[in-house]
Amino acid sequence: MWKVVAVVVAACIVGVFGDKVQYKDCGSVSGTISDVDITPCPTEPCQFVRTKTINVTVDFTAKTAISTAVTKVYGFILGIKTPFPVPGDACQDMTCPIASGAVTSYKNSVFVKPEYPKVSVVVQWEVHDQDDKLIICFNVPVQISD
Ligand SMILES: *[C@@H]1O[C@H](CO)[C@@H](O)[C@H](O)[C@H]1NC(C)=O
Repeated sequence: MWKVVAVVVAACIVGVFGDKVQYKDCGSVSGTISDVDITPCPTEPCQFVRTKTINVTVDFTAKTAISTAVTKVYGFILGIKTPFPVPGDACQDMTCPIASGAVTSYKNSVFVKPEYPKVSVVVQWEVHDQDDKLIICFNVPVQISD
């Protein structure tokens, strides 16, 4: 009985908050990441299914005042850092300006194009502040699949 309750509660939590994933911080300076959520990603490494849209939500605390911010996304394919095209203005994906100490949610999404190769890739997601310091930087391993 308690197992059933636990599963139902867990399912509700996942349903509401999405899929928190393991990530490696790759040098966040002007922010502190509390959670990285990738939906859908029921099992890790995350499967990025071609033709589907993946939602990315990052909760972080700003360590300095942030007026403008730029998103840069890269994929390490066979160790080579390759830029992944995403819209740059990160203030479209969170509310700017951000006061120092404010807890902020950054939300973005990526469309997994049908022509992407079915490779494993370490995604590096960076958001830079007005001084080009990293507000957030995280690595997540991903498998592109059908
Ligand atoms: C991703 O976010 C969009 C906009 O908030 C929402 O409509 C969509 O259902 C989300 N997709 C998933 C897989 O959670």
